[in-house]
Amino acid sequence: MNKEQWGSRAGLVFAMAGNAVGLGNFLRFPVQAIQNGGGAFIIPYLVSFLLMGIPLLLVEWSIGRFGGSFGHHATPFQLHRLNKMKIWKYVGVFGLFTNIAVASYYCYLESWTITWVFHGFMRTFEGMTSLEVATYFDNYVSLDHTGIPIVVWIFTLILNTWILSRGLEGGVEKVAKIGMPLLILFGIFLAVKAFLIKAGNEGAIFDASEGLNFLWTPDFSTIWSAKVWLAAAGQIFFTLSLGMGSIHCYSSYVSRKDDIALNAMSAGWMNEFVEVVLGSAILIPISVGYLGIENVIALTTQGGLGLGFKTLPFLFEQWGPLMASLAGLFWFGLLFFAGITSSLAMGTPVMGFFMDEFNWKRKNAAWFFGLLIFIFGFPTVIFFKYGVFDEFDYWAGTVALVFFALFEIILFAWIFGIDKGWQEIKTGADIRLPELLKYVIKYVTPIFLLVVFIGSLPGIWDKLTNKALYSQLVGLSDPAMIHEVEKTIYFVNASRLLLLLLFVGISFVVYKAYKKNYAK
Ligand code: PHE
Repeated sequence: MNKEQWGSRAGLVFAMAGNAVGLGNFLRFPVQAIQNGGGAFIIPYLVSFLLMGIPLLLVEWSIGRFGGSFGHHATPFQLHRLNKMKIWKYVGVFGLFTNIAVASYYCYLESWTITWVFHGFMRTFEGMTSLEVATYFDNYVSLDHTGIPIVVWIFTLILNTWILSRGLEGGVEKVAKIGMPLLILFGIFLAVKAFLIKAGNEGAIFDASEGLNFLWTPDFSTIWSAKVWLAAAGQIFFTLSLGMGSIHCYSSYVSRKDDIALNAMSAGWMNEFVEVVLGSAILIPISVGYLGIENVIALTTQGGLGLGFKTLPFLFEQWGPLMASLAGLFWFGLLFFAGITSSLAMGTPVMGFFMDEFNWKRKNAAWFFGLLIFIFGFPTVIFFKYGVFDEFDYWAGTVALVFFALFEIILFAWIFGIDKGWQEIKTGADIRLPELLKYVIKYVTPIFLLVVFIGSLPGIWDKLTNKALYSQLVGLSDPAMIHEVEKTIYFVNASRLLLLLLFVGISFVVYKAYKKNYAK
């Protein structure tokens, strides 16, 4: 049996915080906030954190530790331990599926941060116009010119695989202990610099306060908008790595008598600090300071990644040679550490599953994970411009999370039972959790989740039927453009088929493992 453990408590908290703190904190959060009205977004966001984020963190940590005590490090058989009905193993398939599907596009994004650390530090963009910087990025991601993006991507996969093959203590924990403090330092440096932006200095047209006020002045006008609530809830899921199976895996290496309550709170709050304080103090004040709110909102509608990879590198150049180099190095270095500590977390459940159920060696399991990401990531890399990347993000990185979390909390609070569940959470706890939370977990969180899920159904349906793409076709007369949209529709449908195949494939392997190890 796989008896690995975390090296130290600090190591576990750093690794878990590294799992949560990711590209979501620095790229996704600010963009969601901008698109959903700034101050109007923050209230639903904080409510979602308290009523959904915290309860689900406790639930996932305790499912993980409980399953781990039986030697299960991935969700299919962790859920099976909570209840023997056949269906739960297959619900648990989500905890492998999501990690593979998300890692498949996430590692590509992570590889850009490596290239942009280089460009930022070497000041590749010196003297370029903002349009030239943007075009550079667009050409890079759509592989228009060179093979470099593919080479850097493969390097990223090998790096992840190599770290994973060194195990939790010698690999994951080490990277987190170096990466997280550096990330926080880089973040503080950039936040201070952003804070000092003054209208009229270095080309800025507004003070830093312009962007900060946009975000931090509560705005109740759209408080009842379903769209804003869904975006806020979705962000809480993504940023805390909830509904993924990676928290379950990390906590399955905690021993049964050790604390999870305080650890879950430490890692969760550390993520919120990084997201709400650092994540909102860099991208928004800088871009708003130079471009104004209207322009920044317009930029985010052309896709969320542009601000981080096109706009900021251009703006850094306004700060003079030394500052431009440092800011580029720190911003993309921060993104790299954020990314890698998260992609490592996506690898561990997959490896754990094959090590537990098929007795694979760690090295082989790590390389197998690398191979899977290569295979499923390949379409997101080479067909990026046809929306494959976004499609993976939507189905695996958004819809699947809520779906899985809804099932798991019903299993935990209603089938396994909240009394046993609450006992599980409290076992070994180094803090006293308020009894109220027990009722939140039983009633409030599941209802909240159900409402979020039902509220998302119309959007999911529109997406599934490619409504937006078909409406683009209406009124197009240029045959070349019609052909491009039709091609996109084709690739979007093919991506879904691929994801479905992945899910079915994993279910089959889980079935085989069950027959082999548990069925009598
Ligand atoms: N929470 C990470 C982020 O904010 C993403 C992630 C998803 C990490 C799944 C691990 C597992 O970017």
